[in-house]
Amino acid sequence: MLVEALHYTRARLGGESNAYGHLTELVGIWARQRRQRPAWAGHLARARALCLAAAESTFRETRRTALVYGAGILNDIPLERLSSLFRRVVLADMAFLPRTVHLAKALGNVELMRTDLTGVLHAPPPSEFLAARAPAPMPDLRLGLKDVDFAYSANVLSQLPLAALATLGERTPAPDPQHLKAYAASLVRAHLAALKILPCPACLVTDFQEQGLAGGQTHYDDNLLFGVDPALPGETWTWRLAPRGEAHPELDIERHVLGAPDVHAGPDHEIPHGDRNA
Ligand SMILES: C[S@@+](CC[C@H](N)C(=O)[O-])C[C@H]1O[C@@H](n2cnc3c(N)ncnc32)[C@H](O)[C@@H]1O
Repeated sequence: MLVEALHYTRARLGGESNAYGHLTELVGIWARQRRQRPAWAGHLARARALCLAAAESTFRETRRTALVYGAGILNDIPLERLSSLFRRVVLADMAFLPRTVHLAKALGNVELMRTDLTGVLHAPPPSEFLAARAPAPMPDLRLGLKDVDFAYSANVLSQLPLAALATLGERTPAPDPQHLKAYAASLVRAHLAALKILPCPACLVTDFQEQGLAGGQTHYDDNLLFGVDPALPGETWTWRLAPRGEAHPELDIERHVLGAPDVHAGPDHEIPHGDRNA
C-alpha cells in the first residue's frame, strides 16, 4: 500500500491528473501485475507477440508513427521493439506513471499523449439523450496525427465506457440501467468503428468475458463489452486475472481475451452518428 501511495503521489506531483480516477487505476494495475506476475505472464506474452507480429507486417518503407491506445503501464506493449521499428511511437492514455515518462524520454522517439479516447468525458450526454438510446459519437482516433502507419488498441476497449458510466450513474434521478448499458455498448461500437476507418493496419487486443470459477463450477459469467461482439478474426486466450485470494476469497477470476492482428479484416461496424474521419 505504501509503495502504491508513493507512486500515486509522485505522479500527482509530476502534474498527472486523476480527474476521472484513471491514475488510481494505473497504480492499482501496477500493484496487481507485480503480485500476479506468473499468472499474467502468458496473457501479456501473447498480447505483445500479436502486436509485434502485426507491426512487423507493415511496409518497412512506411513506418512513420505507431499509435498505441490505452498504453497504461505498458504491460502488453513491446515498446522497445516498436520504438526501433517506427520513426516515432505515440502512447495515448488518460494518465501515465513516472516510470513510463522516464522510459519514453530514454527511448528518445516515444511521445505521451494524455487524452480521452471516447471524447465524451468532458460533456456526458443529457439524460434525454440516454433515454432516446442515441449512440455515442465516433471519436477521431487519428488524434490529430497525420502520419500514423500502425495502430494498436491495447486492452482498452472494455474499459472505455467505465468512467462515463460512473459519472452518469451519479445523476439524480439515476438513469435507467438499460439506457446506461445501451450507451456503454455504443461507446464500445464507436471505438471499433473508429479503428476500422483508420487508414492503416489497426491491431486490437481486448478482454471480452469474465468468469468467476470455483470447484469446477462457474459462479458468474459477465460480458465485458456490454453485449457487443467485435466479430473479428483472430486468436483467443485466457488471462488468469485474479487467482483465488487476489480479488475474492474463493473464486479464481479469469478473463477471455481476443487478439485481432488487423480490425480491417473483420465485418464493418455500424458507423455511429457524429464526427467521421474524413
Ligand atoms: C486494462 S488497462 C490496459 C493498460 C495497458 N495496455 C497495459 O497493459 O498496461 C486499460 C487502460 O485504458 C485506459 N483508459 C480507460 N479509459 C480511457 C479513456 N477514456 N481514454 C484513454 N484511456 C483510457 C486506462 O487508463 C488504462 O491504462
